[in-house]
Amino acid sequence: MKGIILAGGSGSRLYPITKIYSKQLTVIYDKPLIYYPLSILMLGGIREILIISNDETIPFYRQLFGNGSHLGLKIEYAVQPAPNGIAEAFIIGERFINGESVVLILGDNIFYGSLEFFYRGIRNNEGATIFGYQVNDPERYGIVEFDGDGKAISIEEKPKIPKSNYAVPGIYIYNNDVVGISKSLNPSARGELEITDVNKEYLAKGKLKVEKIGRGIAWLDTGTPEALLQASNFFGVIEERQGLKVACIEEIAFYMNYISKTEFEIVINSIPNSLYRNYLEKVLRES
Ligand code: TTP
Repeated sequence: MKGIILAGGSGSRLYPITKIYSKQLTVIYDKPLIYYPLSILMLGGIREILIISNDETIPFYRQLFGNGSHLGLKIEYAVQPAPNGIAEAFIIGERFINGESVVLILGDNIFYGSLEFFYRGIRNNEGATIFGYQVNDPERYGIVEFDGDGKAISIEEKPKIPKSNYAVPGIYIYNNDVVGISKSLNPSARGELEITDVNKEYLAKGKLKVEKIGRGIAWLDTGTPEALLQASNFFGVIEERQGLKVACIEEIAFYMNYISKTEFEIVINSIPNSLYRNYLEKVLRES
């Protein structure tokens, strides 16, 4: 299973933060936003990861993660010249995906809580597995309609009159058909290759599973300044209370046995004196 983080976009709602680089580099509490989706892929056991973004931002991601080897990962990079839609990720990533299944996570999506829904999706996926999460403002999202047996029967992008409150979050699991399906799509009225159209195609073939995510999971949005502040406060409260960091990728690499204890020590020694380093030293001492 390969992983793609789509981390470009126009980020227009966050201007001027996004004037220089894409929003996934902005800070959520104590680390860049992209650490959160990256940590989800890592926890899902995915070690070959493609980061897609615009030309201006890719060099910053390279500076952050390099080839990923210090995390026991293989990280590659690709440019999406313009935000032509989420489904374009599979066309840009075709060579990287190389005939395998793939998880796509949007670089601005944050999940917090038990990730069992995700692990189960990875284990059991046949065609496509996407998720449904209850939201207060369904007009803003791709919305799934379920029948009485909990089976998905329709998906609509940003419906004016939503048929449910279940939005599709930015984490999707696909078999390799996704590449061909994405290539066959026509751009929507807003000029994008829509991920909802990919999902509709799987639905039409009877190969789409939509798993509901329970209310115990936090799915946070980071599209507006207010949402960024809320997400920062949320993780500030949790980290402060538990004394544990969320989305600390070096800790996760060690915890998942992607790197050995010696390699973990080397990583720690490369980090300047900081609260972040102190935290990792504590993790090492207590291991
Ligand atoms: P959106 O929320 O659709 O848009 P955006 O992030 O560009 O922000 P705004 O609405 O303020 O202009 O994007 C969802 C995520 O997917 C986000 O992380 C950006 C990313 N994305 C791409 O990388 N390429 C694309 O072509 C699109 C549509 C989105």
